Amino acid sequence: MALRPYIVGNWKMNGTRATLPEARAIDRIAGRFPSVEVGITPPFTLLSAMVNDLSHVSVGGQNCHAEAAGAFTGEISAPMLVDAGAQFVLVGHSERRWKFGEGDSLARAKAEAGLAAGLGVILCVGEREEMRLAGRAVETVTAQLKASLPRVDGMVGHLSIGYEPVWAIGTGRVPTLADVSAMHRAIRTALIEVYGPAGARIRILYGGSVTSANAAELLGGDEVDGALVGGASLTAEAFAGIIMAAAARVEA
Ligand code: PGA
Repeated sequence: MALRPYIVGNWKMNGTRATLPEARAIDRIAGRFPSVEVGITPPFTLLSAMVNDLSHVSVGGQNCHAEAAGAFTGEISAPMLVDAGAQFVLVGHSERRWKFGEGDSLARAKAEAGLAAGLGVILCVGEREEMRLAGRAVETVTAQLKASLPRVDGMVGHLSIGYEPVWAIGTGRVPTLADVSAMHRAIRTALIEVYGPAGARIRILYGGSVTSANAAELLGGDEVDGALVGGASLTAEAFAGIIMAAAARVEA
């Protein structure tokens, strides 16, 4: 793994103040493995509390609006995330795409808003099961990626990609290592096509049912620079094994 591994826990719509001790326990583990960059995206309500409490884990938003401010009830902008102390933002997560009807152009606009605000951006892409079964997963994801990639204006170092097959999220099912590797290689090729040599430095995270039991194998895939973890990031006990698997790869 040539790039510093990046392990991000996406808490989704889970967690209250009562859960903060779990985040502090994750922070202590992250402090023991500085070779790994660890992030958490809590629900917005816990963002400031985590920024205050955590020192080894970067804290990010799960989503942002493409505009900086205005009449958008219920929305939060990228500059507001910065104001709350966030360091990065997820955009285009499959739950945003498939449960909230967000498309590629909106994901791109949000990614550009995040970069403009100075945030790290993790742009997520992934195929639905019918595309995988039709043998069109690589083609589908490559098209989604190219339509969602932001203009980077010198901020390419702030961009990461999350590859998350929709059918693997929260299901306990994962693609074969060969399929993960083939997809990550295709994403790398597309990134270099779009951004030139700088595309080689963009980290590509795998997400979808990552656990401490399968992390070591998945992190060993071609061009896999980290993991985006949902369910297994909610407790320090479950998340620790994934952080340790990433650290072991650096030392290997
Ligand atoms: P999961 O979620 O690890 O629970 O499958 C991954 C994600 O949606 O980021």
